Amino acid sequence: MTTCDLLLSNATVFDGSGQARRQANVAVHQGLICAVGETEKVEAARSIDLQGWALAPGFIDVHTHDDRLLLSDPSMAPKVSQGVTTVITGNCGISLAPLGRHEAIPPLNLIANGEDQRFDSFAAYFDALSRQPPAVNCAALVGHTTLRAVSMRALERPADAAEIARMQALVREALQAGVLGLSTGTYYAPAQAASAAEIRAVCEPLRGTDALIASHIRNEGDQVLEAMTEVMAIANALGVRQVLSHHKVLGRANFGRSSQTLALLDEARGRGDVCLDCYPYTAASTVLRKDAAEQASRTLVTWSRAQPEASGRYLDELAAERGLDLDQLIAALQPAGAIYFSMDEADVERILAHPQTMIGSDGLPHDTFPHPRLWGAFPRVLGHYARERQLFSLETAVHKMTGLPAARFGLRGRGLIKVGCAADLVVFNPEQIRDNATFSDPMRPASGIHQVYVNGVLSWHDGAGTLARAGQVIRRAATGSPA
Ligand code: ZN
Ligand code: CU
Repeated sequence: MTTCDLLLSNATVFDGSGQARRQANVAVHQGLICAVGETEKVEAARSIDLQGWALAPGFIDVHTHDDRLLLSDPSMAPKVSQGVTTVITGNCGISLAPLGRHEAIPPLNLIANGEDQRFDSFAAYFDALSRQPPAVNCAALVGHTTLRAVSMRALERPADAAEIARMQALVREALQAGVLGLSTGTYYAPAQAASAAEIRAVCEPLRGTDALIASHIRNEGDQVLEAMTEVMAIANALGVRQVLSHHKVLGRANFGRSSQTLALLDEARGRGDVCLDCYPYTAASTVLRKDAAEQASRTLVTWSRAQPEASGRYLDELAAERGLDLDQLIAALQPAGAIYFSMDEADVERILAHPQTMIGSDGLPHDTFPHPRLWGAFPRVLGHYARERQLFSLETAVHKMTGLPAARFGLRGRGLIKVGCAADLVVFNPEQIRDNATFSDPMRPASGIHQVYVNGVLSWHDGAGTLARAGQVIRRAATGSPA
């Protein structure tokens, strides 16, 4: 007889590998999965019959902006309520560390505000997270835009040699502290002037490691192919793994072009290790920008520091009400954020269905009236896209949010129901799981999620968080030391 803390019996197990579901028992001891399948010889302190329930590895949200939320609201309710047990922060070029006391210029203001929760280094950031653990595990990327903001005297030009050297030193610090890689966001003003040569030089410390580059490309509209080619060439030259962030094509003129972008990706996969993440909606969301509003059929304000009452209102309605043109209205609302209805459903489905596509929410947790992806991305893939639309099997849907991202981001011992893996687990009803957050009511938790375990600790139960804060900081398991 071996003993264990918890036995989950008779569940329909989706193990995260993409293999067919099967009935099995899963035993947990000291935060790890200690037996799967045959458990007659296991004596459990506690045992739960999960007959009729699905059991999957906890979901991994590969694309988040939860850098500060992990500390400011460690309950992590928007994520754990969806069955998410691990988040990856620092995407789109913006990371909270090592911003320190520097000004949070847009888009850094999506994650950093005021004076609290500022960190000069990833060592200090991870230290804070270890001292005050959140309800989910976290891993981080270092953002190139953050590095520019702290290293450069002027942002509207490429970095000079001394600035590149400063950024490289910060990348080395971040890698030594355990970040999974570096993200870029040349779409945004503070990084727009960065040349491919600058980014390649800043990423030089990643060479020879298994750290990766996550790229929010320069243009997701008319120049999407050129923008993909630029970032894939950088990763390729360094021999570094890559993730294309929140892959999409924007603007009516580009509807249907995901067949071109995915063909380009498939071709590039012959030369390097590149994959992608995607959120399951036809609307984007970021800071308020005129070019983005012009590309969209409609634009919904998510927050405005100047006019908080504009949150949740459409730009066209506000403009008509106030007799303002688009320029005047946007200027009056700044700093602000918005949701842009600018994608085609067929593109979203084609991208989601690609075998290399992982799920990332890209949720913006500090927005007053957030995009529903913050609370709904994962249940929406399982309920709407897998069960209702039958875009892929439930096994594949689970794989895209567990085993696949764990492998791509190098999260060892996560993302699978397998002996020795962390007991990050979600119990859900495959017939009932659904997203409830909408563009008019964006903060409604999903339904159909029964229990969520983080490192073996029950952290969400029937519609409410427990008080558990069992999340761990996941540091990159270094296979190569930074140069
Ligand atoms: Zn982005
Ligand atoms: Cu993002």
